[in-house]
Amino acid sequence: MENATSQRIAEALHYLQAKVPPKLQQPIIGIICGSGLNGLAEAVLPEPRFETLYTDIPHFPPSTVQGHAGKLLFGVFEPDALPVVLMVGRIHFYEGHSIQSITFPVRLMKRLGVDTIIVTNAAGGLNEDYAVGDLMVLNDHINLAGLAGIHPLRGPNADDFGVRFPALSDAYDLDLRRLVHHLWKELDRDAGSTRRLREGTYAFVGGPSYETRAECRILRRLGADVVGMSTVPEIIAARHCNMRVLAISLVTNNALLEAGPRGDDVQIQGSSRQDLTKAIQEGRANHDEVIDAGKKAAREVQVSRTAPNQGIII
Ligand code: ADE
Repeated sequence: MENATSQRIAEALHYLQAKVPPKLQQPIIGIICGSGLNGLAEAVLPEPRFETLYTDIPHFPPSTVQGHAGKLLFGVFEPDALPVVLMVGRIHFYEGHSIQSITFPVRLMKRLGVDTIIVTNAAGGLNEDYAVGDLMVLNDHINLAGLAGIHPLRGPNADDFGVRFPALSDAYDLDLRRLVHHLWKELDRDAGSTRRLREGTYAFVGGPSYETRAECRILRRLGADVVGMSTVPEIIAARHCNMRVLAISLVTNNALLEAGPRGDDVQIQGSSRQDLTKAIQEGRANHDEVIDAGKKAAREVQVSRTAPNQGIII
């Protein structure tokens, strides 16, 4: 018997089958664009192409974030006319959606025929070696909320998508990760970019506030290299229905790990009021810098797309 989730997805699918041109109806790759990373949509060929707003698709959770357009884009990528579907504008838990509703777009993609999902995100760098602008291929994650029971698969299992107790020890596809590293080496990096490709662990936090210094220290000690407010719920939903997963973070800011100035240290050197104010404000994360870093990365993607031997859309 069909459960409520499957019924809602069937209705959304029915809508898309009626609207999307037949040759674009069966994408095999799904892409979720992270904050400020909607520029990926530029890599889709101008023709054939079809887009529909989330708000037009039955039961699709609406995106409310500034800088997230909220549309599903169907198209093809060069050079092999690979059919793709992109989520341009992501759905975040912090917007007020239930953690379960984040699974909806991923499961809809599965029903469309997607077998590989690529998820991008903006993240704060915790690893001291990482710089703003670096990219990190995820090879693991820490789902703090999930460990505490806020989990996208909590509730009756959607048996028609996957098993009750899915394994996540192999969530991030090794072959896809190797491919990214291989292609990265081939890319001509002489275009002036100092970006580096890393591989590491992503910590998922609920947001919407950025982390405190103490929270950053905890996450780092737990083994996280970057921290962000997305991606993990989607990855879990994708693995539940057996999709291959590739996820890439763009480091948009460096999280502050060191303790700030102490209020009880009255002897602090050079502790003029202005110095202290500067020390407190320096390194504060803000949404604008996240969006700016994304835009800069998107511009460089356009440059690298014109480089010879380019074979990857970053
Ligand atoms: N996204 C970008 N930077 C972030 C940070 N420091 N924490 C959580 N999410 C982020």
